[in-house]
Amino acid sequence: MRGFALSLWLACTAIGAQAQTLDVLHWWTSAGERRAVDQLVQQLDRRGIAWRDAAIPGGGGGGAMKVLNSRVLARDPPDAAQVIGRTLADWSDLGLVLPLDEVAQRNRWSQSLFPLVQRVITHRGRIVAAPLGVHRINTLFFNQRVWAQLKLGAPKTWGDVEQAAAALRRAGVAPFAWSDEPWQIATVFETLLLSEGGPALYGELAATQRWQAWQDPRVAKALERLRWLRRLNGETAIEQRWTASARQLFTGDAGMLIMGDWADGELVAWGAQAGRDYGCTPVPDTAGMHLYSIDTLAMLVGTRKREAEQERMAEVVVSPAAQLAYNQAKGSVPVRDDIDPTQLDDCARDSWQTLKRADSPLLPSIAHRMAADEATKDALADALHRFVKDPAVTPARAQERLVALIRSAARATPPP
Ligand code: BGC
Repeated sequence: MRGFALSLWLACTAIGAQAQTLDVLHWWTSAGERRAVDQLVQQLDRRGIAWRDAAIPGGGGGGAMKVLNSRVLARDPPDAAQVIGRTLADWSDLGLVLPLDEVAQRNRWSQSLFPLVQRVITHRGRIVAAPLGVHRINTLFFNQRVWAQLKLGAPKTWGDVEQAAAALRRAGVAPFAWSDEPWQIATVFETLLLSEGGPALYGELAATQRWQAWQDPRVAKALERLRWLRRLNGETAIEQRWTASARQLFTGDAGMLIMGDWADGELVAWGAQAGRDYGCTPVPDTAGMHLYSIDTLAMLVGTRKREAEQERMAEVVVSPAAQLAYNQAKGSVPVRDDIDPTQLDDCARDSWQTLKRADSPLLPSIAHRMAADEATKDALADALHRFVKDPAVTPARAQERLVALIRSAARATPPP
């Protein structure tokens, strides 16, 4: 009898301890991204939440957002999803997102998150997502081993980049690793807008309401800079994904790469180490500035009652332990300003310290939904893709196209 009671108790405890499963839709499918997700899975598992993966491949999340839209329309939303920036604001206006004010209060988010992060997750006075990490887009990576062989210094100016490119070509190394996916071109281009335009103009461009700002001659200069950069490699077409271009940097087939610092996570996943195998530095003329994209998990309102678990998930992913583990793998930096920066690698430390300094210009990424909505950022990326692919399109014509796009988007969208 005592034996029976014991097994009954054990069975009940096992049921009681059974993890609650939450569906999570995202696009983190590369090696580094997967490692980062695994960190969250482990942290959540310890708190009784099982992560059921609904990953949709495709860098930048274009495919994932399409699948997410159709699941929401079919009234089958996942319990949580990577919904960021402008999309997050739009979705919370539609009542699709669970407010997280209580979790935020209980866990004193307002005292531990960077003010920028707090702003990004707040919409109409409510907390609408759990922040995961801050990516820095204006990052120039270079292969440290190749740099040592060729005795080059870290490329700080466009002049340094030009000299390095010449040395690399002489050594039979492609100066830059490129991916021609439209979102990749847009990612590089916005760093050039910041470089050529400075933070004040970039801020106006990103607001996307004052379309006249896009007529500024510095926008044409950024387009010229993009063409110049591309020509450093010669005229080869590069149809490959971002992971393949990061790989070229890793192997030393290419010397430099301009990319959001998720590439840092990728290089680490392949066994590389910042400072030993690769270096990173802000894109020329953007030192001290942070062109950011903040990853956030929104808890979606569905037919299944899951609020307690969704709130627990939010609490866990923002906790100091999850923040460090996840961001060290992802290449981004913790959303909290109370962590120990010596735990971050060289690239991440500079990013985190730039966020921490009170006077750093912090600029929202247009290519990654922080500033423009999904349709506008896609239209911009397509126009830039056409510019890059067709040498007959002059910078002046490409600029006209960008102005026209922003002008009609500004008419269609009321100010946020
Ligand atoms: C996301 C990152 C992701 C990157 C590449 C960005 O839009 O914010 O989390 O790693 O796309 O897929």
